[in-house]
Amino acid sequence: MPKKYKLYNDDCIKVMQSLPDDSVDLILTDPPYNIGKFMKKRQTNLNRMRENFFVGAGWDNEDYTDWISDMSRFFNEAHRVLKKKGTLIMFMSVLKVESIIELAQATSFYYKTTGVWHKTNPMPRNMNLHFVNSNESWLYFINDGKTGTFNNNGKLELDFIQTGVTPAGEKKYGKHPTQKPVALMDHFVTILSNPDDIVLDPFMGSGTAGVSAISKNRKFIGAEISKKYFDLSLKRISEISDLFNME
Ligand SMILES: C[S@@+](CC[C@H](N)C(=O)[O-])C[C@H]1O[C@@H](n2cnc3c(N)ncnc32)[C@H](O)[C@@H]1O
Repeated sequence: MPKKYKLYNDDCIKVMQSLPDDSVDLILTDPPYNIGKFMKKRQTNLNRMRENFFVGAGWDNEDYTDWISDMSRFFNEAHRVLKKKGTLIMFMSVLKVESIIELAQATSFYYKTTGVWHKTNPMPRNMNLHFVNSNESWLYFINDGKTGTFNNNGKLELDFIQTGVTPAGEKKYGKHPTQKPVALMDHFVTILSNPDDIVLDPFMGSGTAGVSAISKNRKFIGAEISKKYFDLSLKRISEISDLFNME
């Protein structure tokens, strides 16, 4: 049986440049949020805090202007490789939502929604000192059109999705500091794409979008610049693929 995924250990812009025009149905991605420098300036010892370990991982430390220029190149390629009326979901820090909407609109994406992912069991860190952070934003865009695939099956779908944080069972091959739960990705893959569609995650980290796409009978293309996280995603995605190819 032919493989339903293709993974690249490379810079995502290079990878996207190698993909044909109008070939992808859904981009489901979670890029660096450009909050590493902001977090570093704060007084707390964030590097040692588990949830913020990405500050120490080094892939979110760009200057704002460099990040904007990288994200602008991302949107140019995303616009080219996505089919007309293809969908883009991007997780993002609420601090950077407006910047991303501006970049997307400059490349013919139609802005639909800023939604919330609420974590039901966040780490109750410093709970007697402040409001414990329990949510992240996601942005929903359509490429060159106002509506795309939306498999709600007559059910009301809110701009709010609630899951637990990533369970230990999804980290058996190793940890990624900002690994998303598969249940979260399943929500978007199911509603925003169809079986046999091509799902792309250019910043795949530990490969969660790929695990979801393959388990829902979609095809998957993923890129990850770090060898360590690429190896992790390869293990996770090949395992799920073997499982779903079983006779
Ligand atoms: C927020 S994490 C993604 C986490 C992922 N959603 C998961 O569930 O594991 C972003 C990832 O993008 C990768 N990355 C950063 N810049 C990249 C680039 N130019 N090309 C490919 N990957 C990149 C980082 O190494 C990091 O693993």
